[in-house]
Amino acid sequence: MPTYRAPRGTRDLLPEARSGFSRLEGIARSLSARYGYREMEIPLFEQTAVFERGIGAATDVVEKELFRIAPRTDDSEAWALRPEATAGVVRAYVQHGMQTLPQPVKLSVVGPMFRYDRPQAGRYRQFWQWDVEAIGDPGPAVDAEIVELGWRFYAEAGVKGVQTLINSIGDAECRPAYLETLKAYFAVHAADLPALERRRLETNPLRLLDSKDPAMTDLIFGAPKITDCLCGACSVHFESVKAHLEAVGVPYRIQPTLVRGLDYYTRTAFEFYRSGAEGQQQALGGGGRYDGLVELLGGRPTAGIGFALGLDRVLLALEEGGTKPVAELPPLAVVVGADPADTVSRLRVASQLRIAGLAVRAELGQRKLARQLETAAKEHAHFAVIIGDELAEGHVQLKDLEAGTQHVVPLADLARELARAATSHHHG
Ligand code: HAM
Repeated sequence: MPTYRAPRGTRDLLPEARSGFSRLEGIARSLSARYGYREMEIPLFEQTAVFERGIGAATDVVEKELFRIAPRTDDSEAWALRPEATAGVVRAYVQHGMQTLPQPVKLSVVGPMFRYDRPQAGRYRQFWQWDVEAIGDPGPAVDAEIVELGWRFYAEAGVKGVQTLINSIGDAECRPAYLETLKAYFAVHAADLPALERRRLETNPLRLLDSKDPAMTDLIFGAPKITDCLCGACSVHFESVKAHLEAVGVPYRIQPTLVRGLDYYTRTAFEFYRSGAEGQQQALGGGGRYDGLVELLGGRPTAGIGFALGLDRVLLALEEGGTKPVAELPPLAVVVGADPADTVSRLRVASQLRIAGLAVRAELGQRKLARQLETAAKEHAHFAVIIGDELAEGHVQLKDLEAGTQHVVPLADLARELARAATSHHHG
């Protein structure tokens, strides 16, 4: 057992896993650009109040899972690591007066989030999200555009069988009456409720619908459905979202118990699952509309919608689906030398090739040429650049390790010749 280990619930992303992540980040960035979302950064931590007000003090994410930062002095403000990006992005939207920009403002963040969750497969204390927000458009067309964007990501990443579940959870107009109906329904069964759910009945009754406690299954099944209690405006909005989703060919299923774990949502709510894993806690991603959040964080009333996809879970889904990790390319060439001691020449030649944009390793050990060549062949480099006596006349030997051929190349032509070989062999 090593003395020091990565903290519980965190993982080192070793190069192979990191390159899988980079590929997903690349797809996210490419999609953001195509759909017009501009990438931005927000701090990894914020004033705790941003999360308490934005996400809701009675949510699991804030109540149980917030990584609070111990203050260094008595008078410092309270800070917490970001458990998600939406509250911070909206805080930035208000702080930087983005209300004056043409609306909607379409933003995206890729990066790590922190939740003090109980660690298990697919549930980490530090995990990565691709987050997308469209602020300043009340929808409903943008709702469908956002859902389609999330769905498209899984398609391009190669995750098979992703199900899109959607719901409308109403707004300030119709939700209060629904909550009363819901409370009354569960109150009748209060004696049968597990202790945690009985407490939620008071603090956050909507969350009862999201309970994973098997004792709740039948009760939830019989509960009044929010989609039967929507006001006229919410109902029209939801119908239109569905029509737009059909227009862009995104298959979806309506899930009346989908309520999401953060308090800022209004109207459209959605989650992505792998087929067969719907309704479990392991959503691949989720999001929804948050028409009250900008105002809650000090801005003018402004509509908004967004999602976050969990990149760790996407990578797990790909692995479980049998997708091979991204193969790392060997160097195009290794610079070796007849004089083991002459590391200066090897480093200088390699440096010139790297400046020309080529992936090249220099042999910096002081081994015999035969050994240097053996290593280069073992790592599947295509070429060895051999530095010998010809260097005095500005030449090197270029050995094709795959073909076993060798010829003399002027140093001035070396980069061009290797680059040509790289394109014809898809190297580098
Ligand atoms: P969320 O549903 O809390 O929404 O998280 C989105 C996704 O992040 C989840 O579906 C999951 O894939 C991933 N995720 C969450 N917690 C963990 C964890 N502990 N370990 C690994 N992956 C995890 C949000 O965060 C909202 N901000 C989404 C949003 C954006 N809504 C509107 N705009």
